[in-house]
Amino acid sequence: MTVAMAALALSACSSSSGSADEITVYNAQHESLTKEWVAAFTEETGIKVTLRQGGDTSLGNQLVAEGANSPADAFLTENSPAMALVENAGLFADVDKATLDQVPERYRPSTGKWTGVAARATVFVYNKDKLQTAGLPASLLDLAQPQWQGRWAAGTSGADFQAIVAGLLALKGEDVTRAWLRGMKANTTSLQNDVATMKAVNAGNPDGGVIYHYYWYRDQAETKEGSANTALHYFKNQDPGAFVSISGGGVLKSSKKQESAQKFLAFITAKKGQEVLRDGDSMEYPVASDVAANPALPPLADLQAPAIDPSKLDAKKVTQLMTEAGLL
Ligand SMILES: [Fe+2]
Repeated sequence: MTVAMAALALSACSSSSGSADEITVYNAQHESLTKEWVAAFTEETGIKVTLRQGGDTSLGNQLVAEGANSPADAFLTENSPAMALVENAGLFADVDKATLDQVPERYRPSTGKWTGVAARATVFVYNKDKLQTAGLPASLLDLAQPQWQGRWAAGTSGADFQAIVAGLLALKGEDVTRAWLRGMKANTTSLQNDVATMKAVNAGNPDGGVIYHYYWYRDQAETKEGSANTALHYFKNQDPGAFVSISGGGVLKSSKKQESAQKFLAFITAKKGQEVLRDGDSMEYPVASDVAANPALPPLADLQAPAIDPSKLDAKKVTQLMTEAGLL
């Protein structure tokens, strides 16, 4: 038994014994990252994890539909809105305080019903032949202006982009969001996802796109095939375009394996779990236990993200507004 393992065993022995040694996690985070977490967790605790893979929205809706009968013990997402959906349905248990204590307040909801486990930054990816620094948008809001017509794209149907819209809604309210989405409908091409957006921009049509940072850093670390002609613009300045999306983790109240499920959340937010995130290929940001980001990334604290309580992000309203605008 390693020292870390002994410490974990000690800290985890407080309540019942003979806990089940297998949990089911509904996983909407990138499968590769969660698999890395699971391998390290199982090695340290002996607890096996079965993953059920799906998107933020579909798994969130599935949990709500299953209610107390869900086979899920824990839920991991890419973004906060699906966590808020499950939280609002009253399905989450409180996260152990020791786990919450590992995560700074700005990276988790004030309610303590789930916690941030990773973060991703909104960026404007642009083609360097098409745009110079002086021509970059100062704010995400500018992209709804007529001069951006036909010049940018986004993966509108994905939970990643919809979380950015949820951030805009939380910051600026319904009227501003509705108007922005109308402008977006006039200006953009809807592409399938962030990778498709980045590749289209790399090919020079359109000039730019709104995506999350990690797709670009991954491509840069590998072949640069989808990003060699591009650069990233960070909006900063607490702009809605500087939105940092929190990937969430929570334990289902209906789980009969509370202790093991809580251990899983404790592990992925502990130093070891966050180091697995930092050292893997995901290029997402660690948020807990003072683990710094992969050195290829600008520090999260330098991105001047707007402060938003992630449990206030409203997935349903976003879907409604985007549908109204003709974007879905
Ligand atoms: Fe993603």
